[in-house]
Amino acid sequence: MESQVYTLLQYLQLSIGYFLFTFAIGFSVFSVLLFLLRHKFWSWCTCDICHCYLTSSWRKEFTNLGDWYAHLLRNSPSQTIRIHVLDNIITANPRNVEYMLKTNFLNYPKGKPFSMILGDLLGDGIFNVDGDLWMFQRKMSSLELGSMSIRSYAFNNVKNEINFRLIPLLSSHVVVSSSQHDFKSLDLQDVFRRFSFDNICKFSFGLDPCCLELSLPLSHFAYSFDLATKLSAERAMVASPLIWKIKRFLDIGTEKKLKGAIEDINVLANEVITQKRKLGYSNHQDLLSRFMTMVDNDVYLRDIVISFILAGRDTVASGLTSVFWLLTSHPDVELRIREETNRVMKQNDEEFLKFEEMNQMHYLNAVIHESMRLYPPVQFDSKFASENDAFVDGTFVGKNDRVTYHVYAMGRMENIWGKDYMEFKPERWLKNGIFCQQSPFKYPVFQGGVRVCLGKELALMEMKCVVASMLQHFEIRAMAIGGEPRFDPGLTATVRGGLPVVVRRRRGI
Ligand code: HEM
Repeated sequence: MESQVYTLLQYLQLSIGYFLFTFAIGFSVFSVLLFLLRHKFWSWCTCDICHCYLTSSWRKEFTNLGDWYAHLLRNSPSQTIRIHVLDNIITANPRNVEYMLKTNFLNYPKGKPFSMILGDLLGDGIFNVDGDLWMFQRKMSSLELGSMSIRSYAFNNVKNEINFRLIPLLSSHVVVSSSQHDFKSLDLQDVFRRFSFDNICKFSFGLDPCCLELSLPLSHFAYSFDLATKLSAERAMVASPLIWKIKRFLDIGTEKKLKGAIEDINVLANEVITQKRKLGYSNHQDLLSRFMTMVDNDVYLRDIVISFILAGRDTVASGLTSVFWLLTSHPDVELRIREETNRVMKQNDEEFLKFEEMNQMHYLNAVIHESMRLYPPVQFDSKFASENDAFVDGTFVGKNDRVTYHVYAMGRMENIWGKDYMEFKPERWLKNGIFCQQSPFKYPVFQGGVRVCLGKELALMEMKCVVASMLQHFEIRAMAIGGEPRFDPGLTATVRGGLPVVVRRRRGI
């Protein structure tokens, strides 16, 4: 007995010793790396731009990093700048954008640094891969997304989510009193995030997480997905990838949480796939069921569908948030949307726009495009050069250089949009009342060229339905509007502090 206790104590001592030793080594490596990285950065480049970036002195004059970049790019003769300490070339020159996204597409893949950041969450999903893996999924997805049956499935999902969840939720927050003190505000950004999560899950998985049912607790899947996206994006913000890789190796801190969140997502995804295999999927309309007829590998199926959820969730919510941010200070635009909706729906005996009527909403389409010009959901996008190259404006691009086209800055360039580039003017998209598309290389909100967004039409349909329906029923005013919104760092533009609004029922309704 005594010898057993002794052995146990010895074992415990060894385990604790091993743990402390590993922790000490990990922590020391971590500290030395941090020191080296800082030291390298500070001594490496002292140009004005790098100095301003490293000291964050741009904050004195600009609200968001994107505003500072826009300022620098407007003042650059080639509309291209280099942030040496980030090894990053940033461009707002449409000719360069066309060159990297179309003309010399093969030299500008997403690259390893990007795919590693999202790799644990997205696996081999379309959003995260290059080459043959990407090509296969792109072809398969384009075919499915082009079909009329999936469009009408998506439309019906959106219509039901609006009629049975969004409108009742907003109705329950209507303010009746005119007293300044009785305002019951609602965070519209949060509402749109829940709305778009329900929609994209139904569309991709055939699964309804009921996030817009505020009476229910937030679904575990939504919570884990949020956490995994946030923590994956945070990997991109650390000084060096080595830092998060060491944390992942030691399974500590945010990396441990990320691992847990991804495991939760996988459990649910596997459950859905297993259920579908058991119960049949051939007459189901969702993307997963469609892909299951072509792909046997369950892990690959999970990866493909998770990419769609990531791509289609926060982007739509972000686009809708900026529309309502801008409408508060442009009541004339709001009035014109209502007039157009009434005109188009004149013959309609339902309360909801019909699918075919969507194409007649030229003004609303212009409003949505114009607000995403000023506030694009994906503010910038980077690629990594495979080989030495030169941009159309003469900028040298070295092998492995990170090149970024800055969508946010491009929406604020005088040479693209004219002197009134800062004005919210939906009319700039209309010719004789008809909506006219801009070149995707001047307006790469949905990217452009070979990897242009696959969900563009779907997203625009969803956004038009939401804006038209909300304005038909309610008057919505953001509570504290003044100046530019401040965005939180992340994969998609999110307004810090959300968008608190006051909802009133429209007179006569
Ligand atoms: C306003 C809403 C949206 C915006 C602004 C947007 C924007 C973008 C952008 C900028 C990219 C390129 C990203 C990159 O390569 O790094 C992209 C890709 C993609 N988007 Fe969207 N998106 C939106 C909505 C959607 C929706 C609703 C879906 C799903 C149905 C979707 C599916 C995809 C997919 C699958 C890709 C990857 C395409 C590829 O790599 O070939 N997007 N989107």
